[in-house]
Amino acid sequence: MTRLLIAQGLVVLVGLATILVVTEIVGLALFREHMVAAGHENPDVEAIHVEEAFRSAITFALVVALAAALVVALAASYYLTRRVARLVRGVAEAASTIAAGDYEARVQTPALGPEFKVLADSFNQMAGRLADTETTRQQMLGDLAHEMRTPIATLDAYLEGTEDGVTQLDPPTVGMLRGQTQRLARLAEDISTVSRIEEHHLALVHEPVHIGRLIEQAITAHEAVYAAKGVRLAKKVEEDLPTVGADPDRLGQVMTNLLDNALRHTPEGGAVTISAQSTGERVVVTLADTGEGIPADALEHVLERFYRVDTARDRQRGGSGVGLTIARGIVKAHGGDLSVTSPGPGRGTTVAWWLPAL
Ligand SMILES: Nc1ncnc2c1ncn2[C@@H]1O[C@H](COP(=O)(O)OP(=O)(O)OP(=O)(O)O)[C@@H](O)[C@H]1O
Ligand SMILES: [Mg+2]
Repeated sequence: MTRLLIAQGLVVLVGLATILVVTEIVGLALFREHMVAAGHENPDVEAIHVEEAFRSAITFALVVALAAALVVALAASYYLTRRVARLVRGVAEAASTIAAGDYEARVQTPALGPEFKVLADSFNQMAGRLADTETTRQQMLGDLAHEMRTPIATLDAYLEGTEDGVTQLDPPTVGMLRGQTQRLARLAEDISTVSRIEEHHLALVHEPVHIGRLIEQAITAHEAVYAAKGVRLAKKVEEDLPTVGADPDRLGQVMTNLLDNALRHTPEGGAVTISAQSTGERVVVTLADTGEGIPADALEHVLERFYRVDTARDRQRGGSGVGLTIARGIVKAHGGDLSVTSPGPGRGTTVAWWLPAL
């Protein structure tokens, strides 16, 4: 406030000094010229008084103007600094509240013009992002601990049984233990992919990808497991699909996650059809199965991390509930999106995803 006041005081003083100099040099000269023109050639008593009156009036006007200007400058500085100080104090308080771990702190937007609004808005945006990150981090840690508990408990129980001589380390047991460690390893891998996706750090190597060829490769890779379960794998791919700019390995991962899901949830004798078509701007890929379907209330959650429709049963079947989260994250990182629909339990599931065409 002092600095603002000094600055305004300087402006007032320079203004006054200018007026003084101008009246002294130009004003008085003009005044005298007019007095001469009015016939007061030699300064007589009357002329001296008139000049004195002129000087007094000027001085009086200037003193009053100076006082008024200083009062207004003081008031304006006080008002402005108080408002700016309130905002700065608000930002500082919110920042230390956030630093202390409470991410709900926000700054009120002051009516101080667009720059201050931008400042307050950016601050609030930053606080919002931090809050989101913190929620994700906490949820992720909780989910991770939960997911690790079962395989660790299994490993522990078997090791204890072996120590006590109750269980033998025969090939089936070793196979089962291997299964549990593999599950932990996959969990670690999936978690790192999910967090990279959620923090927008997924490294993508973009190149022109032919979706028809991508589907072909996915089918070749899954033919054997589908045949073993007795589920038919068909494709309906439009000719001359435009290419997309994408990371083929990541898109391969999307196809694998979706084909694994479809196979896991489709009983023997069922079918899974992959289709692809172009809408001009987009290339749309659809995987439709004739499997167990998804109830309406679960549909809105299947894309969430660690969500499984039938928690116990799906976990038993080896799922940790991140396959769809990863698939959607990859597609979104390419500028597209993925959605899951199902007419209901027992009536199949359709997963559709699209990417912008090149
Ligand atoms: N084709 C499908 N038919 C029926 N239910 C499905 C299908 N795909 C997914 N789901 C349901 O959605 C849940 C989430 O799928 P997601 O792929 O994310 O996890 P997951 O398959 O259980 O585990 P992960 O893919 O990590 O091994 C599944 O547990 C399952 O309940
Ligand atoms: Mg899955």
